[in-house]
Amino acid sequence: MKHSNNLRNPGVGKSAFVGKSHSGGKDDPVLQYVVNNSLREHPVLTKLRLRTLEDPWSIMMVASEQAQFMANLIRLINATKAIEIGMYTGYNALSMALAMPENGRVVALEIEDTYVDIATPFFKEAGVENKIDVRHQIGMKTLNELIAAGEAGTYDFVFIDADKFNYDRYYEKSLELIRTGGIIAIDNVLWSGRVVNPAPGDLTSQALDALNKKLHKDQRIDLSMLIVGDGLSLVIKR
Ligand SMILES: C[S@@+](CC[C@H](N)C(=O)[O-])C[C@H]1O[C@@H](n2cnc3c(N)ncnc32)[C@H](O)[C@@H]1O
Repeated sequence: MKHSNNLRNPGVGKSAFVGKSHSGGKDDPVLQYVVNNSLREHPVLTKLRLRTLEDPWSIMMVASEQAQFMANLIRLINATKAIEIGMYTGYNALSMALAMPENGRVVALEIEDTYVDIATPFFKEAGVENKIDVRHQIGMKTLNELIAAGEAGTYDFVFIDADKFNYDRYYEKSLELIRTGGIIAIDNVLWSGRVVNPAPGDLTSQALDALNKKLHKDQRIDLSMLIVGDGLSLVIKR
């Protein structure tokens, strides 16, 4: 789809370039329509979203409609083991845990204690604190620990959403940890459109662009790049 000058449906495709909607999409009537007519947000997710919007870094929070889409993927593949690399205040970790059966587990990787402290009471309030295993340290360390613990090939779903410069490393570790037919969802692959023509000094855009091009050729996976939020790639392990 062409992203700009969409005269038939003004606003469609724009969401990939304006960042995340946070279920508001105030400037985009089509995105607002999508949210109004499809979002079914659990009441504790609503409370967590509103609490997160008070944080100066709330732009980092996943868009609600994107979290719901990933929760539905979790349901579709009957996932019981998921990893989130970059939990922030826990909106998506909570959304995934709510979509899983009682024996489901989300391993949530987050380096900042402030964010872990915000997330934890909401996990408890939603009654899913036993389903979310927060690993409060550098994400790569946890991924290596999971592999060392013999968990390679056992995860159903991974969401990569931490420091963009390390995405390729997270991707390779995730591919090790995921089972055949499992899904790796990679966020911000469009980086507000900057991946199209990365500036010479823009190392983040260059890294994301390089990963996008690597995935396109990667015969270990099937691939879709979606114009959702800031761009979401879905990788299915062959
Ligand atoms: C875009 S936010 C994640 C948003 C989150 N997935 C959600 O559902 O709202 C990225 C998070 O990754 C964390 N992070 C950055 N580098 C990290 C690292 N090396 N290890 C673990 N977490 C990291 C940041 O502290 C931040 O909270």
